Amino acid sequence: MTNVFPEGFLWGSATAAAQIEGAAHEGGKEDSIWDAYARVPGAVAGGDTPDRAVDHYHRMPEDVALMRSLGLQSYRFSTSWARVVPGGRTVNPVGLDFYSRLVDELLEADILPWLTLYHWDLPQALQEQGGWANRDTAARFVEYAEATYAALGDRVTHWTTFNEPFCSSLIAYAGGEHAPGLTDPRAGLAALHHQHLAHGLATSRLRELAAAEERDIRLGITLNLTNAVPNDPTDPVDLDAARRIDGLWNRMYVEPLLLGVYPADVLEDVREHDFGSLVHEGDLAAINQPIDFLGVNHYHDDNVSGHPLPADAAPGLRPTDKPGRSPFVGSEFVTTPSRGLPRTAMDWEVHPAGLTTLLVRLGQEYPNLPPLYVTENGAAYEDEVSEDGAIHDDERLAYVRAHVEAVGAAIDQGADVRGYFVWSLLDNFEWAWGYAKRFGIVRVDYDTFERTPKDSALWYAQHIAATSGVG
Ligand code: NOJ
Repeated sequence: MTNVFPEGFLWGSATAAAQIEGAAHEGGKEDSIWDAYARVPGAVAGGDTPDRAVDHYHRMPEDVALMRSLGLQSYRFSTSWARVVPGGRTVNPVGLDFYSRLVDELLEADILPWLTLYHWDLPQALQEQGGWANRDTAARFVEYAEATYAALGDRVTHWTTFNEPFCSSLIAYAGGEHAPGLTDPRAGLAALHHQHLAHGLATSRLRELAAAEERDIRLGITLNLTNAVPNDPTDPVDLDAARRIDGLWNRMYVEPLLLGVYPADVLEDVREHDFGSLVHEGDLAAINQPIDFLGVNHYHDDNVSGHPLPADAAPGLRPTDKPGRSPFVGSEFVTTPSRGLPRTAMDWEVHPAGLTTLLVRLGQEYPNLPPLYVTENGAAYEDEVSEDGAIHDDERLAYVRAHVEAVGAAIDQGADVRGYFVWSLLDNFEWAWGYAKRFGIVRVDYDTFERTPKDSALWYAQHIAATSGVG
């Protein structure tokens, strides 16, 4: 493939605090909602918990050395709110010190730190006051952002407020699949609005702080966006199902952030939950702050229908057999029939062209779109360790290569994409799926915590070396 990646295109890898750190109750850290939720019987597959995760808290220098050996140019990680402000109100200097050391280690290795403030681990103490369903949590988030910025703002230039707020609002509070595991549609919508508000308030506050010190920082947010594909594009029922998914999954996030409005058709779909009463005067202006980049996480498209699946269709996978409900508030009935594509171990379709479509479409639909970064893309497969200790993860390698090419194709077609982060650097705690699903390009042995780069990591390292600096 000819190199279409512009000079300065950033190649990196991503993780999240709760998924890798472990040390769940060390250094002053207290329970996050994920620590508490994982203790609920049946909440996480296999009864797994983030207690030790992959022990990154104790192996951080070794992990940064590994990143350096792969030639990563940037590392996307999250700070744990429950480590930095354990009870939700008082800052824990020991927690901040861990991230300060991480940032120093990264800069020493010439790796750009790319920091996310919220990757789903709310302090449990705040959940006990309603969590994201409580508007006050947005104010607590701003305090946490300020404390983190005060400690790291002299060295971290790239700041992301939220990772995939769709998952930490609707799936967590209405769908019951992520912590805190609620199935309350109104709470899901409240969480959605309050996370937007927290994003907007923190963005303007950090911008103000940076301006006062004449620091050049970049502020943005990461959304998980999908192509909602109608199973039968001539069937009005399927078209309406696709509209609803696009509305609740994409437009309820992109539009308030970029345009300062909520989409009217979705407000109509959810009218029984009185969404309007959550939105106070001035909120939309507060949410609609200029951002310097939009992070896009993308793994798969969604082929959707408004019809029941045929009786012989395989049931969709859920991490556990606990009851849940559709996170698509106002749209309880949506199915995702197979269109015969290969699937990963998550049962997610493999369709790299979807990533091209999405990146190109965003630029066409939103003229004020900031530069894009693919902040997550990757795949879980059931890896096997060969006798020689190598991991020939051909399927993951092919997935990553094809999606990197799909990003190249989007750039060719005019999309302004500036970077790509593979998910994930390490096998880790895959939320309600526990440790059963391995997304790492580096294998973690869960008995010894030994790290072994898989073939996909070796390919990625070669790709970075071959691609970088060639305009
Ligand atoms: C998106 C989330 O941000 C990340 O935490 C998760 O592990 C991956 N998707 C894979 O499901």
